[in-house]
Parts: sequence; structure tokens; C-alpha cells
Amino acid sequence: MLSKKIQSIKPSATLTLAAKSKELAAQGHDVISLAVGEPDWDTFQVAKREAIKAIEDGFTKYVPSNGIEDLRKAIAESASKEYRVSYMANQVTVTIGGKFAIFSALQSVLDPGDEVIIPAPYWVSYPTMVEMLDAKPIIIPCEEKQKFKMTATQLESAITQGTKLLIINSPSNPTGAVYSAEEYKDLAQVLLKHPQVLILSDDIYNRLIFNNEEVSPHLLHVAPELKDRMININGAAKSFSMTGWRVGWALAQPQIISAMSNYQSQTVSCASGFSQKAVVKAIIEGGAELKMARLKLKERKNLALTEINKLTAISSFDPDGAFYLWVNVKKTIGKTFQGKKIANATDFSRMLLEDQKVVGVPGIEFGLEGYVRLSFAIEASRMKEAVDRIGKFLGQLS
Ligand SMILES: Cc1ncc(COP(=O)(O)O)c(C=O)c1O
Repeated sequence: MLSKKIQSIKPSATLTLAAKSKELAAQGHDVISLAVGEPDWDTFQVAKREAIKAIEDGFTKYVPSNGIEDLRKAIAESASKEYRVSYMANQVTVTIGGKFAIFSALQSVLDPGDEVIIPAPYWVSYPTMVEMLDAKPIIIPCEEKQKFKMTATQLESAITQGTKLLIINSPSNPTGAVYSAEEYKDLAQVLLKHPQVLILSDDIYNRLIFNNEEVSPHLLHVAPELKDRMININGAAKSFSMTGWRVGWALAQPQIISAMSNYQSQTVSCASGFSQKAVVKAIIEGGAELKMARLKLKERKNLALTEINKLTAISSFDPDGAFYLWVNVKKTIGKTFQGKKIANATDFSRMLLEDQKVVGVPGIEFGLEGYVRLSFAIEASRMKEAVDRIGKFLGQLS
């Protein structure tokens, strides 16, 4: 009954794990989920108030498929500052979350057989989305010694006549690695030699960084001449703690933007109007709350990192942004837990969940074996409790 294509699609691993931990919690277990990709604090107050006002004012109907004008203008203005190149409202389209911005961008530029370069570890959905369009993911493994970032040499050797697109995600989900301006310069030199390659930059975590800046470095800071080849993705979900409001966006040249808007108009129509009104406020007036969020995250990162690194059997990469610890569990592989061998990081995650009711996402879901992703966007005392439990689990390995 089902199409071949739909049968080849796996459910999102992170959402599946989140469901599993809810199920265990419903059975009465004290589950600590470090699997989810969302902040635990509330949506910004300015946004909530604006949405309530919009609903009361009757702003509850269809809106233009490319987004309400106020929001496209606010995005263009803030993006022009963040990217240090000028964007106009006709270079913006608003989508149902950043996820759909990525999918409709891919749908707008990829033909079957096109090659898409994806550095690993990658966000779970990129390769699946590319495959859904019968295009070909070309995965570039980026190891710990290179801080999980793609080098210019790796990029150069991956580009062929068939390369249509590079996907870059900084700060990265799952590692939190951030490309520096210097690293971007090296990548830009390669990209400038290959004008047929478009670049999708997933910037969804670009305001959640720990170096006291407001926004992470970007390819456009070092190579503004790439602007017409870039599709920049962002959204309200992570920065403003608005995961459930489903508002994302893309900035690109008008031809791509209008293709994406047409695609959205024929599939899901538009992102919710009152959510969009709320996001306008979050962008314009959310600065103070965003600053607080950054501070809170940095504190939690430091605490989680210190606690994890007290455990000798595992170690974490120190992230520069986002809210994940990318934890190396390779030393536990080959050991046994209650008579059962840990063959890989997926076994590690499963046994940890069964024994200690702590949920982490196995690294293979992000394309790199030997790691587990733990979110630290949870309350500090719960994080500490989670790490204590991980320590108890590790103490039982032989
Ligand atoms: C790297 C990355 N890109 C895009 C998204 C999509 O976010 P949303 O669709 O909630 O805006 C996520 C969410 O987890 C993400 O981690």
C-alpha cells in the first residue's frame, strides 16, 4: 500500500527517543531526558503577549504564503546586521519552522542525482531530506581531532561536476562546534573556485553562543560575494524558545525565495499568522531575554561539562554554541554491562536508559559512531542528577 519512497523514510530519531522517554515517565519512572532539542525555559514574554493580542484582535486567518510583511521586514533588518550584507524583504520567506525552510529550499534547488555535501556529524534530517528528493548525500566525516569541522581540503576533494549544494550548520547540532572566521575564509576560497555550488547555511543556533558575542561568525562575513549563492536558514524555535510556534525562515536571492514560497503555497499554505506576529516582537524587543538565555546556557554548559569530565570513562567536546554536549563514549565500547556487551554507542544509550532512565541520543543518528549527544538545556540540578546517574551506570561496566 505504501509508496517505496515513504517506506525508505526513517522517523526522526530524536523525536522517537523523546516519545520513548515520555512513555517511561508515564509508567511512573523518574526519567531525565537529555534527548530533546529545545530550551526548557518559557517562550519570551514579549512574544506571548503579542500572540494573545493578535488572537483577540481576530488575526486568526490565512496570511500570505511567504509570511506577513512586518515579519519579513523585521527579519531582513536583523539579518542585514547579523550577516553584514544588505537583505530586503523580498529576499525573505517565512516557513512552518526552520525544518520546512530547509526542506522547501532543497525542493527548490535539487534535481534527482544532484550531489549534496554534508559534513558529519550532521543534523539528523539533512541526509533523509536529500534522499527524499532522489538527490545524493555526500557525507564528509569530520573527526574529533579536527573539532568535528570540515577542512577546506576535505571540501575541495568532495566537490565534483555533480555537486549542487553544500550544507553547513554552525553552531552545529549535535557538536556545538562553531566555524571561526579564519576557517570560513579557507572554505570560501574553495567555494569561490566552484561557482555551480550553492550553500545552505543552517544558522538556527547562531545567537546561542558562549563567547560574549551576539552572533556566531558566518561565511558572508568573510565572503560577501557568495551572497547570491547562499540560502540562510533561521527560525524562532531555539533563540526565542518558540519550538511549538512553528516559525522559521530563509534568506536567499529572490528567484529561490519565490520558488520556496510557491512550494509552500501549494503544500502547507502558510505559517500561523499570530505566531508570526509574536516573532516580530521577539526579534525587535527580545534582546534582553535573549541575553539572559545566553548567560543561562553558558552557565549550564560549564556545569554540565565540569560534571561529565569528572567521569574518566567518557569525555565531552567543549561546545562554542547550541545546547548539546557531544560525548565520546568509545572507551566503554567492548565492555559489558550486566553480562551484555556494549557493541556501540547505540547499545550504550539503550542500556543507560534501561538502567538509569537517562536519555541521550546515539551518535550514529548524526553520522558518527562512538558518541552520544546530551542536551544541557535543562535545569542545573537535573543535569547534575543525570550525570550522577551516568556515573552509576559507568561504575557497573566491566
Ligand atoms: C540544526 C537544526 N536545524 C533546524 C532545526 C529545525 O528547527 P525548527 O523546525 O523547530 O525551527 C533544528 C531543530 O532541532 C536543528 O537542530
